[in-house]
Amino acid sequence: DPKALIIPAAGSGSRMRKETPKPYLMLEGCTILERTISAFIPLASLRQVVVATSEALLEDTRDLLKTILPDHIDGLAVVGGAERQHSIRNALDQIADEAELVLVHDAVRPFVEHRHIEACCQAASEVGAALLGVPSRDTIKHLDDQHMVRETPPRSQMWQAQTPQIFKKELLTEAYRRAEEEDFTATDDASLIERMGHPVKMVEGGRMNIKLTYPVDLELASLLIAKNRK
Ligand code: C5P
Repeated sequence: DPKALIIPAAGSGSRMRKETPKPYLMLEGCTILERTISAFIPLASLRQVVVATSEALLEDTRDLLKTILPDHIDGLAVVGGAERQHSIRNALDQIADEAELVLVHDAVRPFVEHRHIEACCQAASEVGAALLGVPSRDTIKHLDDQHMVRETPPRSQMWQAQTPQIFKKELLTEAYRRAEEEDFTATDDASLIERMGHPVKMVEGGRMNIKLTYPVDLELASLLIAKNRK
């Protein structure tokens, strides 16, 4: 089925404590964003890539897409919003009619593996909605506002959500329409589908698919790139 990829890259990256937004930081010779998009280029039937970014980085992003995308993949850059969810909604508006599956993938997860992307696409074709994740290595505590522990959910049932999160286009569009109507925001896209009572399948991904968030993550990333080169 024809696929479209949305890359939210409009975060300010305050946790990274750098002027340049995270996806545009250089990592061993190329930007994180370039590495991330490149991971999807080999995906069969990928027809379109839409990147949500800041006004200031629109032109740079268009140039990047022109440089790295092959002819059969259409590249677009749009201005993002205040929240990740707004950035994705703006990108969703630009998805071509022909797309059947929409993949959403954080700009700052350059280490996603091809086999996991494929497994997730397969699950999304079957179920309508699927995401990559890994079992939580740590026990998760649910806190109240005073940082007192309310409860400890069983660790075996706790998984960390990664991206890509992949959806049938109509389902994602409907989920975004409802979320907006009801003023609901979440930190990932699958939440909006869950809220509709629609099933969402978790597909086990890899431990390398980290979200580069904190300064220490950049050091880890350099090590991973060196390892992959070997
Ligand atoms: O903030 P968070 O870590 O959830 O960001 C995940 C991804 O969403 C990043 O790639 C970031 O650039 C993007 N984002 C966005 N627009 C925002 C906030 C975050 O595109 N307003």
